[in-house]
Amino acid sequence: MERLTASELTHDMSETMQERKMTLVLGGTGKTGGRVAQRLAARDVPVRIGSRLGGPPFDWDDPTTWGPALEGVESAYITDQPDLAFPGAAGTVGAFARLAVERGARRLVLLSGRNEEGAVLGEQEVRNSGADWTVVRSSFFAQNFSEGFWVESVLNGELAVPADNVTEPFVDAEDIADIVVAALTEDGHSRQLYEVTGARLLTFGDVAAELSRATGRDVRYVPVSSEQFSSALLADGVPVDLAAGLTALFSEVLDGRSSYVADGVERALGRAPRDFADYAREAAASGAWN
Ligand SMILES: NC(=O)c1ccc[n+]([C@@H]2O[C@H](COP(=O)([O-])OP(=O)(O)OC[C@H]3O[C@@H](n4cnc5c(N)ncnc54)[C@H](OP(=O)(O)O)[C@@H]3O)[C@@H](O)[C@H]2O)c1
Repeated sequence: MERLTASELTHDMSETMQERKMTLVLGGTGKTGGRVAQRLAARDVPVRIGSRLGGPPFDWDDPTTWGPALEGVESAYITDQPDLAFPGAAGTVGAFARLAVERGARRLVLLSGRNEEGAVLGEQEVRNSGADWTVVRSSFFAQNFSEGFWVESVLNGELAVPADNVTEPFVDAEDIADIVVAALTEDGHSRQLYEVTGARLLTFGDVAAELSRATGRDVRYVPVSSEQFSSALLADGVPVDLAAGLTALFSEVLDGRSSYVADGVERALGRAPRDFADYAREAAASGAWN
């Protein structure tokens, strides 16, 4: 049998190690995944973006894409689409987590939501997958107003949400990314569930005031019923299933059950969360609402 020379062997081993160290970032162009991928790349950690436009493409709706995306992957950041709380999502995430472990992944970090039954089921699936796991159970992101769901609302000056005067401790996606990167690259975060929130409880009225101050625009909060919220989504062309899921999610979660702050950022990073006003000022300065 032909033997490899030492240098070929070294090359071979380092290639294998290099491949094994690959970190898959699902939603790697999204609000948290994008920040996680950037931070890992800055640390020279080999990163693969898991998204429908990634190479190879990864699609939650097409399990045949999961295996190729997991090739050589040692760690993964799991963000579900459209939402871990939606019916069926936990089972899908569980199937993915088990496949990841079967293919050699050892560390899985899951993004979850607070006080959502479906999200807890998803967490259990990952916790039972056999991997070293970390769960980041997050409040609503501040970046929903600048990179997500509510950008158009801010630009139109009207935040119409079925939330009455319920408060939510919006968290900065920068904090989530810092925690996820720590969990993927450092010791001490295995088998930890971090419930992460911002430091302040804000009503959507408070958010509108913060955004008005930061943008110089007049942004108002308009409390609406679930029915009005759903009709507006459908009128905007949101598919029926997604509109129903989002309406159910908002109605379920924005009833006061999540109106408390948690210490996950402090516990994971040893520092306070970033404040919403700092987020809004920086997002405005970066041209998010131009
Ligand atoms: N937003 C919040 O406030 C919040 C709070 C707590 C928890 N979460 C959780 O965070 C997760 C992500 O939510 P998000 O709204 O913030 O989205 P996001 O991470 O900004 O999502 C966008 C990313 O998902 C990818 N993507 C979209 N559809 C996909 C599909 N079918 N298969 C694979 N990748 C897909 C996109 O890339 P491509 O378009 O290239 O596929 C992009 O990289 C959800 O599970 C949610 O439960 C969100």
